[in-house]
Amino acid sequence: MTASIDAHGPSDPQHADRNQALGAALPPDAPAKKPPERSWIPIRSLGPAHRPRILEHLLSLSEHDRYLRFGFPATDAQIERYVDGLDFDRDEVFGVFNRKLKVIALAHLAYAGDGYPADTPAEFGGSVAEHLRGRGFGARLFEHAMLHARNRGIDKLFIHALSENTAMLRIARKAGATVQRSGGESDATLTLPPETLASQVEQLVGESAAAIDYQLKQQARAVENFIDALVEVRSGVGKSGPAGG
Ligand SMILES: CC(C)(COP(=O)(O)OP(=O)(O)OC[C@H]1O[C@@H](n2cnc3c(N)ncnc32)[C@H](O)[C@@H]1OP(=O)(O)O)[C@@H](O)C(=O)NCCC(=O)NCCS
Repeated sequence: MTASIDAHGPSDPQHADRNQALGAALPPDAPAKKPPERSWIPIRSLGPAHRPRILEHLLSLSEHDRYLRFGFPATDAQIERYVDGLDFDRDEVFGVFNRKLKVIALAHLAYAGDGYPADTPAEFGGSVAEHLRGRGFGARLFEHAMLHARNRGIDKLFIHALSENTAMLRIARKAGATVQRSGGESDATLTLPPETLASQVEQLVGESAAAIDYQLKQQARAVENFIDALVEVRSGVGKSGPAGG
């Protein structure tokens, strides 16, 4: 459910195809397929400059999804406050971008701040654009969060979810988490293995590749914008005649 809205700590209670989604050219009627288990998804670490794109993604969630994500049907204003309050120094925020550089999947990994015991688990909260669910994005975001938490020396990952949130709890269980249900809410706790050189390298390689993917999309977007502007100018010239009169 969280990393929580308005939260300053992990336990604050207020708180067609994957390739098509990522911009590869596929026919619009291509059947939705789950990506192979180990196929790569460019998951990028986000910073303060990405706040508008993070906000856009979260505002696009339906009322029910907001309820699942935050534990209550957060209003636009509450989501804005949450995004404004994201602490990119303490926490980690990850995103998957499509070709138009829209965030289509987002995760917030909240680390314990001052005032929490040092062994407080990191808390995971995530969301995937509705039309892209069931294709493995959620599970991959979770794996990514596991890797990053592990490489920070954290040994436990925590997810607070509504018991009705089958997809999130399935992701947590499949990763090996123990789920404790208490009525309408469930707490999942996952013990992480210690970091290794291999886990550090895996993170580094993944981040570099995601950064390259993002740059390529940025360049493609710039070219598209340039062509759009050119077409607009040309159609303007066409309407007013070559002499512009
Ligand atoms: C939870 C959420 C992030 C999962 O994202 P996703 O990309 O659809 O997840 P995945 O495709 O990786 O699916 C994970 C597992 O859940 C299953 N699943 C997906 N949607 C499901 C559903 N509606 N009901 C039951 N199982 C579902 C998948 O089949 C998969 O299981 P499998 O690996 O055994 O096949 C997404 O549903 C979402 O954004 N929900 C709204 C916000 C939210 O609930 N956030 C979590 C709060 S912490």
